[in-house]
Amino acid sequence: MKLLSSDGNHTDLILLDIHMPDEDGFDVIKKLKADSKLKDIPVIFLTDDDQNAETEGFKAGAMDFIRKPFIPDIMLQRIGRILELHRLQTNLAEEVKRQTKYAEECKERMERLSRETVLSLAKAVEAKDKYTNGHSERVARYARLIAEKAGMSETDQNDIYIIGLLHDIGKIGIPDTVLNKTSRLTDEEFAVIKTHTMIGADILKSITEMPGIEQGARWHHERYDGNGYPDGIKGEDIPEFARIICVADAYDAMTSTRSYRDTLPQEKVRAEIVRCSGTQFDPKFADIMVQLIDNDPDYKMRG
Ligand SMILES: [Fe+2]
Repeated sequence: MKLLSSDGNHTDLILLDIHMPDEDGFDVIKKLKADSKLKDIPVIFLTDDDQNAETEGFKAGAMDFIRKPFIPDIMLQRIGRILELHRLQTNLAEEVKRQTKYAEECKERMERLSRETVLSLAKAVEAKDKYTNGHSERVARYARLIAEKAGMSETDQNDIYIIGLLHDIGKIGIPDTVLNKTSRLTDEEFAVIKTHTMIGADILKSITEMPGIEQGARWHHERYDGNGYPDGIKGEDIPEFARIICVADAYDAMTSTRSYRDTLPQEKVRAEIVRCSGTQFDPKFADIMVQLIDNDPDYKMRG
């Protein structure tokens, strides 16, 4: 159906008689409404005094009816009003579309800004702790892989990635001399290192939108058997994401190069995860980590 004028402009309005020689007005309006380019053109039916036809016409999408015989002034006024109504509806629809697009762009921008801010914070830790370059991003990535394999939702996977990125943020508050010491730490120095959990929680406590961020920093060194720090909580009392970060953190510690040792062979990493399942790690997530290792025969997941 072609309803474009020679200059390419759309038809503003269609006056449609119900009774026509070949097909009636209902057939025509059906075709109009089925055509994506024409369906929004307002249609006014021209009818005799027939209430059934008017009911059918409204159901089919007519905007108004003009009964025959026409009174020219009334006809012109009704056409004018329908055109004005249609113009307002179209403007409103366009405004809604424009505002929705703007809101989506703002949302995307805020999400991007949050992601980039979190990443920058994670990098601030690594600028200080030179031996763990890329550690936070890797832990975040492994934690997300575990969460995905555990069947967690996309939202939870994204949250856990952010929690992973910031789990060691408290290291910002640890003196460089202790953090970057290459020789064995004294008991006092190790006690200082341990405070990165509480310092991190303190730094992140103002983020109320995702309480897991603070808890991840605080509890990622808790152990499943209750012998971890800083609070010694155990088992299911440790939030799920902190138990996941704990396994991911250990995997990265063993598979990345440190100043005092090279990467461990994959079978040793696997054996260590198995050995610590149920003591250091939640067996469920240790088991998933082992599956991820077994699905990585070329030892490429790390790094
Ligand atoms: Fe840590």
